[in-house]
Amino acid sequence: MRIIKTKDYDELSRRAAGIIAAQVIQKPDCVLGLATGSTPIGTYKELVAAYERGDLDFSGITTVNLDEYKGLPKENDQSYYYFMNDNLFSHVNIDKSRTNLPDGTEPDSEKACSAYNDIIHSVGGIDLQLLGLGHDGHIGFNEPADSFPLETHCVDLTDMTIRANQRFFASYDDVPKQAYTMGIKTIMQARKVLVVVSGEDKAEIVKKSFFGPVTPQVPASILQLHPDVTVICDAAALSKCDM
Ligand code: F6R
Repeated sequence: MRIIKTKDYDELSRRAAGIIAAQVIQKPDCVLGLATGSTPIGTYKELVAAYERGDLDFSGITTVNLDEYKGLPKENDQSYYYFMNDNLFSHVNIDKSRTNLPDGTEPDSEKACSAYNDIIHSVGGIDLQLLGLGHDGHIGFNEPADSFPLETHCVDLTDMTIRANQRFFASYDDVPKQAYTMGIKTIMQARKVLVVVSGEDKAEIVKKSFFGPVTPQVPASILQLHPDVTVICDAAALSKCDM
């Protein structure tokens, strides 16, 4: 595990975009695993800027996103489908038919999850998976549990996650309570993993996830066992670690 400390969020975003750009340049038909949330927004802005300068070509890229709320229509501006189009896909020359997210509009969880597993297998797995880190150590929507979930599954979101996401909705009651998420096995099978973490409110969980014991109670801790992980943290997120 390589941990990179940046002075602030802007540097974090530039560094993360640089790693993704290198992947796209080295393998123009690669599969990128993508994340939503606040942290990667700056990274996506940097990628869009690189595309606009003519430095990146997304035409051969396939993407698979980590997760999607269950029950939100795609056009809802809080759906992850909407987020990805708004922050990245609509601004670069990606073929939208090769962008994939779990189908949050499919009410049958088993059907939605097995269809998404089939997509991930059919594209040959993930070359580079981008992740954010939840306050309870979740990655994707894999919440603390007694064991590590394997492939795509439907989760009941924890109260902590619902409250963290409430800022994007009119009220607590409007936040979806379930989501479809890629499993930990799928994330661990990605050939490279890139984690971005920003802010002092993540300092405690950064310490637990990357310097504490590996346990399904802190889902991100399993990344310590992945052979090719880069974690980019700003100084605030690393403020409880000796680095
Ligand atoms: C997003 C996702 C989540 C977020 C995590 C951190 O697709 O799967 O695990 O990465 O909740 O979110 P932010 O970046 O908003 O702190």
